[in-house]
Amino acid sequence: MLTSGRGNDRAPYAYPGGFPAIRPRRNRLSAPLRDLVRETVLTVHDLVYPLFVTEDRDTRREISSMPGNFHWSVDRLAGEIRELHGLGVPGVLLFGLPDSKDERGSGAYAGDGVVQRAIQECKAAVPDMLVITDVCLCEYTSHGHCGVLRGDTVDNDPTLDLLAQTAVSHAHAGADIVAPSDMMDGRVGHIRSALDSHGHPDIAILSYAAKYASGFYGPFREAAQSAPAFGDRRSYQMDPGNVREAIREVALDVQEGADMIMVKPALAYLDVVRAIRERCDLPLWAYNVSGEYAMIKAAAARGWIDEERITLESITGMKRAGADVIITYHAKDVARWLGR
Ligand code: PBG
Repeated sequence: MLTSGRGNDRAPYAYPGGFPAIRPRRNRLSAPLRDLVRETVLTVHDLVYPLFVTEDRDTRREISSMPGNFHWSVDRLAGEIRELHGLGVPGVLLFGLPDSKDERGSGAYAGDGVVQRAIQECKAAVPDMLVITDVCLCEYTSHGHCGVLRGDTVDNDPTLDLLAQTAVSHAHAGADIVAPSDMMDGRVGHIRSALDSHGHPDIAILSYAAKYASGFYGPFREAAQSAPAFGDRRSYQMDPGNVREAIREVALDVQEGADMIMVKPALAYLDVVRAIRERCDLPLWAYNVSGEYAMIKAAAARGWIDEERITLESITGMKRAGADVIITYHAKDVARWLGR
């Protein structure tokens, strides 16, 4: 007999008798029974779909490293938003590709910037669609870093005002949730007070609290044309070996007023999702990033794996690890698979 060994009669492994009286397979005997006892059930309500918006006109261009995902011009966005709404996907995460970039990423906080116009377009098409915006400078800076530079380093404190301006401009345009992904220290508190003082106390902040310096962002950087022109992001994004540091980042962001927390990437960091789930009561998001998507797509295209099965299994794993919401490029496919 297996017990906890501590004389506790409520111990989880006290199964008097054991096999053959005890047979776990009984609970797996039929599909309806398996449906009944399933602990983690993925639904379309758990998913958010990222969208890349460009300044072009009448454009829907497939992203070569992310087949099935596109660059959209603002004027073509409404149809896509209506399609997502029809599929039951509750929210989108917007990324902008501006025509011109500069040292200070001014396109990120321009009132008529590409994302600001895209937000209005999405809300006009489907007012109920949740519009979440990525708040970062890297798609807008000529050097591709997530903040302003001092010499070769990204200068934390002067970047905070630009991020706050970006968040406020998104809120003015109608965004529901702003999601800072830059990994500057103090940005959540800075953005919160800017939103509040500009009349947006109800706009939520989803903090990319534990964002790692990851090779899994490769296809995204092609998609968003945001690779750093020199160096890398290791002085602001987290080291892949760390989990205690993730817990500290989360605690600080909660203290600064974050409404929701994100871990990114997802698949190689499920222990981080679990560790944060156990310590933090806020809604927890996992970002199933571009490289994770590209690997499944590439292997499926060669017939090496079953795309539907592996995608659903991966995303279910993210939810089982403790994520409430999964941002995923597979969202439309998953919505179709689950809706069948
Ligand atoms: C912007 C940002 C990145 C991603 C989301 N926001 C790229 C980066 O930090 O280099 C990556 C998303 C993905 O790979 O799907 N800072």
